Amino acid sequence: MCKIAIAGTGYVGLVSGVCFAEKGHQVTCVDTDENKVNIMKSGVSPIYEADLEELMQKNYAEGRISYTTDYKSAYKDADAIFIGVGTPEQPDGSANLTYIATVARQIAETVMRDCLVVVKSTVPIGTNDKVEQFIKDFLINDVKVEVASNPEFLAQGTAVRDTLHAARVIIGTDSKWAEDMLKKIYEPFNLPIVSVSRRSAEMIKYASNNFLALKISYMNDIANLCELVGADIQDVAKGMSFDERIGNKFLSAGIGYGGSCFPKDTKALEYLAKQNGYELRTVKAGIAVNKEQKTLLYKKASSRLITFNGLKVAVLGLTFKPGTDDLREAPSLENVPLLLAQGANIYAFDPVGKKNFEDRFPEGKHDKGRITYVDNIKDALIDANICFIFTEWSEVKSVAPEDYKNLMRTPLVFDGRNIYEIKDMRKAGVEYYSVGRNY
Ligand code: UGA
Repeated sequence: MCKIAIAGTGYVGLVSGVCFAEKGHQVTCVDTDENKVNIMKSGVSPIYEADLEELMQKNYAEGRISYTTDYKSAYKDADAIFIGVGTPEQPDGSANLTYIATVARQIAETVMRDCLVVVKSTVPIGTNDKVEQFIKDFLINDVKVEVASNPEFLAQGTAVRDTLHAARVIIGTDSKWAEDMLKKIYEPFNLPIVSVSRRSAEMIKYASNNFLALKISYMNDIANLCELVGADIQDVAKGMSFDERIGNKFLSAGIGYGGSCFPKDTKALEYLAKQNGYELRTVKAGIAVNKEQKTLLYKKASSRLITFNGLKVAVLGLTFKPGTDDLREAPSLENVPLLLAQGANIYAFDPVGKKNFEDRFPEGKHDKGRITYVDNIKDALIDANICFIFTEWSEVKSVAPEDYKNLMRTPLVFDGRNIYEIKDMRKAGVEYYSVGRNY
């Protein structure tokens, strides 16, 4: 088993660290945030993620994982150091590599024995080469340090399962030593391994995320056309899904992709192409479709109503998808301010994202409207004039069509996730608008 250090305890770093420990490795997770480190030491996960806290507690109790701000002690004698720090989007769309560079320099100034540095963060093609050179430039001790790319494919909400049962492990390196070390680390996972060059590994990550984002934008584009020509996107997606070349996943039309990955990675790839004198037209089109789609419900509702002013508006779901408290690039963040500016009185429900949303939009008056947070969907719906569904939480899905009819003042529902059968809503007497389907 290997001695592993992990730099950064976000989704990628913490989940990877916990899963390596679960498979028997000795793991030290490093973060600069002392408060966060103390929280993790007390057995609490700083992020909302299924199964994570249990595995943190188990592996901590069994002595296989520890948390520290002291990177020197963690890096100095590690077999492998995984970098899982953020690469946030910059105003021009490029990825900010400052955090990666900081860790690289710390590694160079600390390691006292041969070690493999593994970049897990999503980084522009060529970054691993630069990280290796950077470390070599600053290396203090006479030791061997190589850098390999090992991109992460976990999705929020299912991160632990995605890591333990990944569809594939990508190992990007031209060095036999590095490849063998990574294979040894992943051996207990018993997963398919794809060994490629570092640059190809970096590109696999971007190409995969961009492909998935494009798939969603494509379905949203087709959905919008379906509405105009009288077809139903869900039937269309079902019919398409039987073709194995298309597959049956990521065909759900809706109000656009959000989260910390697709929006950032599409823009970063577009930027990278531009930097290299190439225009990625498909990706560019996918980004444009997504931008439009985010405010689709607001636009639909605006053309149905004279005004939002003074109306009670139920908002069901705030996070970018179910299973997470993450709001990054969530459609709610675009629609709620538009509604408040129009004088709507919003009653918002989200089972776990409420607190994060409230930090940005405290309860009370904003612009011309007000926002109130409720713990119970019925409190949002009662006497409401209109309801928006932004996230397909199971709590939202469990609301019966009749509940909208019985609770709301006017049963007018705009569903961005197509969670109801149109015929059921019609039968219940609900005026129901969704995406890519005709009422
Ligand atoms: C995504 C990828 O799915 C992961 O494989 C990848 O590792 C991760 O980004 C990353 O790069 O870190 P994530 O952003 O957590 O994971 O969430 P997804 O489940 O992919 O959903 C992204 C967005 O697409 C959500 O807003 C979701 O509502 C939307 N979506 C997804 C659709 O609109 N339609 C679909 O059919 C599927």
